[in-house]
Amino acid sequence: MTKPLLNALNGQPVSPAPIWLMRQAGRHLPEYRALREQAGDILDICYTPEWAIEATMQPIRRYKMDGAILFADILVIPQALGQKLWFEKGEGPRLTPIANRDDLNGLSLDKIHDQLGPIYETVAGVRKALKDEDLDHCTHIGFAGGPWTVATYMIAGRGTPDQAPAKEMAWRDPAFMKDLIDLVVEATGQYLIRQIDAGAEAVQIFESWAGGVAPDLFDRFIIEPTKQIVETVRAAHPDIPIIGFPRAAGGSIPAYVEATGVNAVGLDTSVSLDWALKALPETVCLQGNLDPILLRMGGDAMRSSALRICDQLKDRPHIFNLGHGVTPDVSPDHVSDLVAAIRSGLSGSNG
Ligand code: CP3
Repeated sequence: MTKPLLNALNGQPVSPAPIWLMRQAGRHLPEYRALREQAGDILDICYTPEWAIEATMQPIRRYKMDGAILFADILVIPQALGQKLWFEKGEGPRLTPIANRDDLNGLSLDKIHDQLGPIYETVAGVRKALKDEDLDHCTHIGFAGGPWTVATYMIAGRGTPDQAPAKEMAWRDPAFMKDLIDLVVEATGQYLIRQIDAGAEAVQIFESWAGGVAPDLFDRFIIEPTKQIVETVRAAHPDIPIIGFPRAAGGSIPAYVEATGVNAVGLDTSVSLDWALKALPETVCLQGNLDPILLRMGGDAMRSSALRICDQLKDRPHIFNLGHGVTPDVSPDHVSDLVAAIRSGLSGSNG
């Protein structure tokens, strides 16, 4: 069976555009909140295949999405390397910061697959669930964080508004930064290969903090390491489609696409599609880029903006998505309404 999302990733324009949404699983869904209550912690969900399969499948059952993004988190890589990770209730991730050579030397690739094993089991379980539940039109997407984004959390020990700790480290001690990123690149390449071995049919690299990075750092610590990950994954799986998402990278997006060799690029909300159509090669699949705030608002503004995106990209391989993730305050009815509008091509209310 040919899958619409895979066809788009392989360079075909598909109508209606296949759709999935970043952060489609998670707190906007009442069924996720129930699972979360039972599980306790997001990391317990990530490492318990039965729960992670369930969380991955929830938006597929409800919305019949064309893509099922693996339920996990980008920060499982630092954790697998030996860094302590926990989620502070109501706040976000915390890690013991990697501040110097001693901290870095304490990390190791030796046991990453022991720690990440349950995630590979989840991938295999999702493929099986898609078949068993007759949802095999849906493509299973694996993922990892982009090396720079992962490093920003490893260095700061938490999310930061401007990623200053990582930027300062990169300027002050580029050799240290390179060694840290090389380690993340090695772990990420192996991690993605194992996800694909287990059944992932495409993978996305979430470079969420690619915005506001000076060109020099962007080349060395975003483009170059991403290119290495793409090459490593392709050496093992030459035909696997790879989606890069250099969020908020603006004018650096074309260089990112060309140099890394990704098959598809996620476009954040700020990207003009007229610009993207001219600046990016015709063979590259474009994914995006509805403002998540329109999804929260719902209604005509959401539907007409979504259809405009589809119309602008109709002659190109295109996967409909948001410019960033679904926020927890989104009504599931708005998501259903969005999917219906894209599939029917109609912006009118569906009832
Ligand atoms: O549907 C999906 O996309 C599910 C899988 C997924 C999660 N995190 C689950 C999650 C994916 C692809 C991610 C990626 C991720 N994680 C990114 C990159 C994408 C982006 O949003 O920019 C980043 C930066 C992280 C790190 C992270 N994880 C943060 C900063 C937080 C706290 C903020 C928040 O939204 O709570 C998380 C927690 C997290 N990861 C949740 C989920 C569903 C919230 C979980 C919960 O509290 O139950």
